[in-house]
Amino acid sequence: MEKRHEPGRRTVLGAAALGAGAAVLAGAGQAQAAGPAERAAGPAARPAPAGRPDKLPVPLVVGHRGASGYRPEHTFGSYQLALDMGADVIEAGDLVPTKDGHLVCRHENDISATTDVADHREFAGRRTTKTVDGKKLTGWFTEDFTLAELKTLRAKERIPDVRQHNTLYNGHWQIPTFEEVLQWAEREGRRRGRPVWIYPETKHPTYFRKLGLGIEEPLAKLLRCYGRHTAHAPNFVQSFEPSSIQRLGKLGVKCPKVVLLDEPSVKPWDFVESGDPRTTADLLTPEGLKWISGFAQGIGPWLPQIIAQDEQGKLGKPTTLVRDAHAAGLVLHPYTVRNENNFLPLDFRVGKNPGDYGNSLAYFKALFATGIDGLFSDNPDTALLAAEEFRRH
Ligand code: G3P
Ligand code: CA
Repeated sequence: MEKRHEPGRRTVLGAAALGAGAAVLAGAGQAQAAGPAERAAGPAARPAPAGRPDKLPVPLVVGHRGASGYRPEHTFGSYQLALDMGADVIEAGDLVPTKDGHLVCRHENDISATTDVADHREFAGRRTTKTVDGKKLTGWFTEDFTLAELKTLRAKERIPDVRQHNTLYNGHWQIPTFEEVLQWAEREGRRRGRPVWIYPETKHPTYFRKLGLGIEEPLAKLLRCYGRHTAHAPNFVQSFEPSSIQRLGKLGVKCPKVVLLDEPSVKPWDFVESGDPRTTADLLTPEGLKWISGFAQGIGPWLPQIIAQDEQGKLGKPTTLVRDAHAAGLVLHPYTVRNENNFLPLDFRVGKNPGDYGNSLAYFKALFATGIDGLFSDNPDTALLAAEEFRRH
């Protein structure tokens, strides 16, 4: 079975999930303009693109790190391709801070595998060993670089052994900032006449808060500057740490919020730090889901929490999670479906090459058939094709 912690380090909404959360989601899609105070907040302050109300389909497809099956993840090449493929929402991005407090889009603060930092002799001395969320890591970390320094780097493919074709684009794009993402979404929204939905994630928020680099405040400020903090703004926000989602709510971020769920035995890192004894398994129970529904509108489960897999990694039966989460008024957006054999259940693989495509279309369809409200995929085009016959409106 594919582990959640992957190699290399690793409309809504839904008619089906109507409850307190879905009341927020039901009107989602209509971008609201920022008020005068927000517009006066700085040169970047502008209203989000006005456009026709744009209800998201159910189930929706989230372009995971863009269209990262085809381009190096978290680059504008990846985001643009996902949008052009028709992804309903773009995960732009996983957010980590720089030394000078800017939010940049990287899957991890360790940028060794996703940039050419190792080729920059001027940064050789920044290579270091840190413990992030209990894991010891050696590499280069965003919090040790200013934004200006990070902008001298170029993105590269994270898993070149599996995605050799994507190495064609190594070195082509810079690391995006979240503010650049908002500007891009606004520009593309104007061009298309409808909002561009994004799905940023706070990464290691407790770790960064302890460094004096809290993520939620700059995220909330930027969303507010672009009029994307309201209940009907075209974005979700997500985190593996429930307290990060709660903090965003307290900071006035009213758009739909999603708690990501790790493997059952894992404790969210904020729970570890605060001494909360609960594990992810506790959050997956009806009581845990009810607790989440007090401050979030959805969950982002790990795929085997939707359809179990046996010890060999073959697909088993659907769990009760879709029913349980919907009963709690939560939508479900599981992660992450990828076309390559390497990431598919054993019985959906074709041939022995990990980088070859397996029968991902059938796996997508099996997942959509469970009644989920959407999913994250590195291959949004394949996901959209599979979603067609399951779209509920
Ligand atoms: O956010 C959905 C999915 O991306 C969660 O896993 O580790 O890839 O951020 P991760
Ligand atoms: Ca993510």
